[in-house]
Amino acid sequence: MHYPISQPSITDKEVSYVTDAVKSGWVSSLGRYIELFEKSFAQYCGVKYALTVNNGTTGLHLALEALGIGPEHEVIIPDFTFVATANAVAYTGAKPVLVDIDPNTLCISPEAIRKAITPRTKAIIPVHLYGHPADMNPINEIAKEFNLLVIEDAAEAHGAEYHGVRVGGLSDCAVFSFYGNKIITTGEGGMLTMNDEKLFKRAKMLRDHAMSSEKRYWHPEKGFNYRMTNLQAALGLAQMERIEEITEHRNSLIYWYRETIHTSESVRLNYVAPWAKNAYWLICFEADKLNDELRNSFMLDLKEEGVDSRPYFYLLSSMPMYQMDPSPVALRKSVIGINLPSYFTLSKDDVNKIAAIVNKLITKYAL
Ligand SMILES: Cc1ncc(COP(=O)(O)O)c(C=O)c1O
Repeated sequence: MHYPISQPSITDKEVSYVTDAVKSGWVSSLGRYIELFEKSFAQYCGVKYALTVNNGTTGLHLALEALGIGPEHEVIIPDFTFVATANAVAYTGAKPVLVDIDPNTLCISPEAIRKAITPRTKAIIPVHLYGHPADMNPINEIAKEFNLLVIEDAAEAHGAEYHGVRVGGLSDCAVFSFYGNKIITTGEGGMLTMNDEKLFKRAKMLRDHAMSSEKRYWHPEKGFNYRMTNLQAALGLAQMERIEEITEHRNSLIYWYRETIHTSESVRLNYVAPWAKNAYWLICFEADKLNDELRNSFMLDLKEEGVDSRPYFYLLSSMPMYQMDPSPVALRKSVIGINLPSYFTLSKDDVNKIAAIVNKLITKYAL
């Protein structure tokens, strides 16, 4: 028995679309699948524009560049997220300012944002962490009050909803990832979503080496090659045609985990705010009694029983390049959580088996 933490779901549909793309000869970033994938994704998110990119990290960088973020700026991000959020800010020369999270949603705390604003602050990047949407209304209100831009980092949250509205259209621009462990995949890949036509055109131009639309091979400024290939878009389109069944299965997974894992006040699974639809990118298991050392031992025990897990993210403020005082809530959370397996072929029976092992360890560690 071996349960990986995640696995892409690739069916004959994906194989047939990618094969068609390969055979068409349109193997680079021109080809019909690019537009079809972008259209399908825009429609899914309820936005006017979607722009494919080669991964979520470059997507974040591109969004920041297109919105005019540069070395003179500060960008407020959560201290608790994947490192790409901070790196993308750093690539622009701007300073990532790390702030604390809400203890329930694990997403950026609006109060913490307010406290971190300086005259140099230009943007906020709320991250919809592990599939749970950030509390966007107060964040957008703060942004309006201080004239700040908001970029959703939706890398982990395809299909999540905030007050009944899908993430991706809740701010100036959103960025998704299609890395192999994400809700849908293109191998590597990403997507920008937005409603502003000017921003879409600017991001598209910067993505394609900033080539002038009037004069081929004329580049009025420094751009990037952050394009997705037609092959990846073919895979992405096939995944989009299956996204409802893929996300539905994630709901079943958490339902089965909730049914079987012995939760209590001190042992919890994914939180869901009353206003949220969680996309459940990863199953989150938290136990208040864990710490970094105990958690490692807990994960090793799981591994010995054939169950892969991963620790919650370490704080960005603990990493050499972003070193600063740790955010207290995030610090506490980062050492008590692990993620359990969640993927399309995981059955109820599999979840029961994993849960039985987890329950045995809950007893062993007296959690
Ligand atoms: C929160 C977050 N932001 C950004 C990224 C970057 O996406 P990618 O791996 O496609 O570059 C990821 C995913 O890995 C992520 O989890």
